[in-house]
Amino acid sequence: MSTESKQVQSDLQSIIDIYSKLIYTLLETHTNNPGKGIAGMKSIISATVFTVCTLSAGIASADVDAKAGELVYNRACKMCHGTGMARSPKTGDKAAWAARIARGAEELTNNAIKGIRAMPPRGGCGSCSNEDIANAVAFIMEQSK
Ligand code: HEC
Repeated sequence: MSTESKQVQSDLQSIIDIYSKLIYTLLETHTNNPGKGIAGMKSIISATVFTVCTLSAGIASADVDAKAGELVYNRACKMCHGTGMARSPKTGDKAAWAARIARGAEELTNNAIKGIRAMPPRGGCGSCSNEDIANAVAFIMEQSK
């Protein structure tokens, strides 16, 4: 995950903290029934946490950057996926990619990281991070659908 999205997540965390304290204070001052107040607070907080988790998941997937992936691709994947070397599915070959794309970005990325049959782990790119691989996979998928 990029430092930017870590920053966004820690900002979100601070927002939850402030929001939770605010709700707590409001409920404390506006109810004479502490039992009810706490139950109400719990349900509001779980709704907030749910919303923020959904937001974070959105950030995590928006984190994949096909544009940055093109650079990784050119450096580490093109020699095989640009030529079909070692029977690799060629980038842009829709027929070769359709069934793979259908399995989803997550599985394709995991396989590209750990290697799959004739493809070595990370395509042999020792300096590629998981994020680089995810971006390169996003680029290949974008070019091949
Ligand atoms: C040495 C050649 C080679 C290099 C370099 C290479 N690949 Fe591959 N790749 C293959 C081959 C061969 C397959 C087909 C494996 C199979 O399904 O039998 C493959 C399959 C894949 C798949 C499909 C995985 C699946 O689950 O079906 C993805 C995604 C992929 N490569 C991504 C990449 C990325 C990203 C890079 C660069 C970081 C890369 N590859 C570099 C040879 C290569």
